[in-house]
Amino acid sequence: MNLMNSEIQYENLYKSNLEFFDEYKKELSKVLDSGWFILGENVKKFEEEFSNFCGSKYCVGLASGLDALSIALQSFNLEKGSEIIVPSNTYIATILSIINNGLKPILVEPDIRTYNIDPLKIEEKISPKTRAILVVHLYGKCCEMDRILEISNAHNLKVIEDCAQAHGAEFLKKTAGTFGEIGAFSFYPTKNLGALGDAGALITDSEIIDKKSRTIRNYGSITKYKNELIGMNSRLDEIQASFLRIKLKHLKKITKHKRDLAGIYFDNLSDFYIKPVVDDKFYDVYHIYNIRTIKRDQLKAYLLDNKIHTEVHYPIPPNRQVAMKGYINDQLTPIAQEIHDTTLSLPISYGTTTEEIFRVSEVMNRFAKKQ
Ligand SMILES: Cc1ncc(COP(=O)(O)O)c(C=O)c1O
Repeated sequence: MNLMNSEIQYENLYKSNLEFFDEYKKELSKVLDSGWFILGENVKKFEEEFSNFCGSKYCVGLASGLDALSIALQSFNLEKGSEIIVPSNTYIATILSIINNGLKPILVEPDIRTYNIDPLKIEEKISPKTRAILVVHLYGKCCEMDRILEISNAHNLKVIEDCAQAHGAEFLKKTAGTFGEIGAFSFYPTKNLGALGDAGALITDSEIIDKKSRTIRNYGSITKYKNELIGMNSRLDEIQASFLRIKLKHLKKITKHKRDLAGIYFDNLSDFYIKPVVDDKFYDVYHIYNIRTIKRDQLKAYLLDNKIHTEVHYPIPPNRQVAMKGYINDQLTPIAQEIHDTTLSLPISYGTTTEEIFRVSEVMNRFAKKQ
């Protein structure tokens, strides 16, 4: 195949999963033969294996990342209307989990260098109604959790970590999801640890939260037909759990591949682009590799003309979404807006090759020279 003429996709889930197909098929047929499809041995084992991987005491398998965040917040039993600190630049799911619990999102602007919540801007948003900080480890980089924990301890606030984009990411050698009371994960297929359908989980060191979220995920019931809490149906199924167990065994290799691809971008991309910040304190897993430029839209079009597909994470900040009218649209977020206006996510999937990254870099450098 002539590489120069082939399309470079942003993500191709067939390619990123192909290496695991034989293992998937073997495990799938075992699940079929078992005749047990919801909350069985695979879910139990995955929960053990994932909590071991993260370094937490407990893991509860759930149906999605949004459910993991929602159940995490529900498990705190907060008074309706309580305020939850959350970054202004995140995927809508983070905000929805707060609103769906009858709580109020209080947006805090990100640090323009890391794209994560700016610890220096948190305290000014804390009020007598604040009960928790919901941080998001965006793009695969952890937030500065030392400073955030100092603040949460000083103000007696709970901390939840949205780890949907940060499986295995570290800050000061500690894994994402283990800093606060609860880490919430998505295993949406494009994530670094992606299932072949929807799935999620939360991790915690608290036996009480573990028990409560197990109860909530199953209609508020631990003992069949006895309902102790207002629950929901958010059960991880056996087929997805069996696929996740396989993927988890390969996660370190998947992360290494993505970090290697990021290394090529770092070494080759022109300084015309603002690249992600690199710092020894962080072990980044590059769920997303973004650059920023004021010429973002022109660059995206130029890359597409050259058969290179990119994405924007995200084009519209949460407080500018139509659905958020009356919830958070009165909160001004110029830094989040600037990031949304200038960010571009480059191909960096497990199915992307090093040759493709060299080609993306070369085309981007050609664009940069013309500016
Ligand atoms: C930062 C963030 N939070 C939450 C979610 C929600 O995860 P899910 O799609 O599994 O509900 C996502 C996934 O898209 C995400 O990127």
